[in-house]
Amino acid sequence: MRDVNKYRLLSDAEPNELEQLAIRVHASPWRQHYHIQPNTGLLNDPNGFAFYNGKYHLFYQWHPFGPIHGMKYWYHMTSADLVHWEDNGVGIEPGGRYDSHGAYSGSALSEDGKLYLFYTGNTRDKDWERHPYQCLAVLDGQGHITKQHLPFVDSPPPGYTAHFRDPKVWKSADSYYAVFGAQRIDQTGCVLLYKSEDKQNWTYIGELKTSLPDFGYMWECPDYFELDDKGVLLFCPQGLPAEPDRFENIHQSGYLLGEPMNPDKACFHHGKFEELDRGFDFYAPQTTFTPDGRRILIGWMGLPDMLYPTDQHGWAHCLTLARELTIQDSKLLQRPVKEVELLRKEKREAVHKIANSQIHLKDWNSSSYELVCVLRLDDASKAGIAFRTGDKEETLLYYDANTKHLLLDRTQTGEKLAQENGHIRRYPLDNKKMELRLFVDQSSVEVFINDGEAVMTARLFPSQDSNGISFFAEGGTASFDATQWLF
Ligand code: FRU
Repeated sequence: MRDVNKYRLLSDAEPNELEQLAIRVHASPWRQHYHIQPNTGLLNDPNGFAFYNGKYHLFYQWHPFGPIHGMKYWYHMTSADLVHWEDNGVGIEPGGRYDSHGAYSGSALSEDGKLYLFYTGNTRDKDWERHPYQCLAVLDGQGHITKQHLPFVDSPPPGYTAHFRDPKVWKSADSYYAVFGAQRIDQTGCVLLYKSEDKQNWTYIGELKTSLPDFGYMWECPDYFELDDKGVLLFCPQGLPAEPDRFENIHQSGYLLGEPMNPDKACFHHGKFEELDRGFDFYAPQTTFTPDGRRILIGWMGLPDMLYPTDQHGWAHCLTLARELTIQDSKLLQRPVKEVELLRKEKREAVHKIANSQIHLKDWNSSSYELVCVLRLDDASKAGIAFRTGDKEETLLYYDANTKHLLLDRTQTGEKLAQENGHIRRYPLDNKKMELRLFVDQSSVEVFINDGEAVMTARLFPSQDSNGISFFAEGGTASFDATQWLF
């Protein structure tokens, strides 16, 4: 929709506009304690995630003026340990000839003492037609970012629409390759491959052939990497119809695991598309490779085309914790990076066996913690954890032994969102003993199941004083062996 006001630059701000907005934002009861969030306005995709010059660099899509998808900046964060982040302010400023309507998503490559930032310049012409340009900016050792004058790709190849964006670049042998999210002119999504010998001049290889020729109307934010002799393609297909316990969010984010691809042949042999997260709020993840050889992923804890309760306070969204990826039995495992332990403060432990009852952990009240719980159902039909509990509120994570599912239920969490997409997510699990590792923040939870087997992420919008935790068992006995660390 044409809304010129959405495309203002920071330099167009009214006097005091951002200061006033920041006051509203910081009064929001749902400001996070240990997740990356915007100072004002809207955050979306993580971008340019890389280790460079002794630190992790991470950018995110940022619209400063409110919780809307308008003019997008790259906002720059750095960290020595992936959990404590330093604010470096604006990274890439849009508004040039080739990014007049936003510096859209992309990736980074560290080489020759510089960090090369590949991104999509979003532009609209006078008829409001979209024209994407693929642009390059370079971060130098002094911390300056310089945009290159001309785009490295100036139009989509024939056969594809203007929905052509989000370059993810990697180096293989002595060549550089990039995957782009794209849409065919028949309105189906796909990934396009490009190659370069010098990072400046790029040639089109072709569309990556997969076994998903008709799988949503657009694929956003692709990422390709190799791990344990497998090729992994991440992407976000839009417009897939919901199925029972699958694809229930408005848009999806998942992966294909296959043989390492030969990019020059543009062909990828792979297995089934699997969702990366089984919760409610997860999209557009990006990975990088660490100096100690780990493949790490960070995602956007939110989704496009949706309203969120923080909109009323002038801001929206945050990023997930960093997750380490590994492969086991042709499945991608995701564990929080080991550095999250640096956030741990006071520790509490408890062991309980309960039958047909609920036990409130009185001293454990908090809205910022890690909770690790080994849950075992003996003859209970349902058992689990109620957290962020208050007078009338609770969020439930429990196992249903009859249907053999682990459920994350935000029916009674507090402020509602995305009602049309349902309030419960169910993960099939055929074992009555499980490890649940929760990371609770002021307005979110990330649940890691059985040491990386699955993750369920959700934004939660309870009242500030809904801070309780209890364990419950129905229809029999269950035992809980739990440790909490306050963050
Ligand atoms: C995904 C996305 C990308 C795009 C960016 C714009 O959330 O739509 O495809 O580059 O966000 O902010």
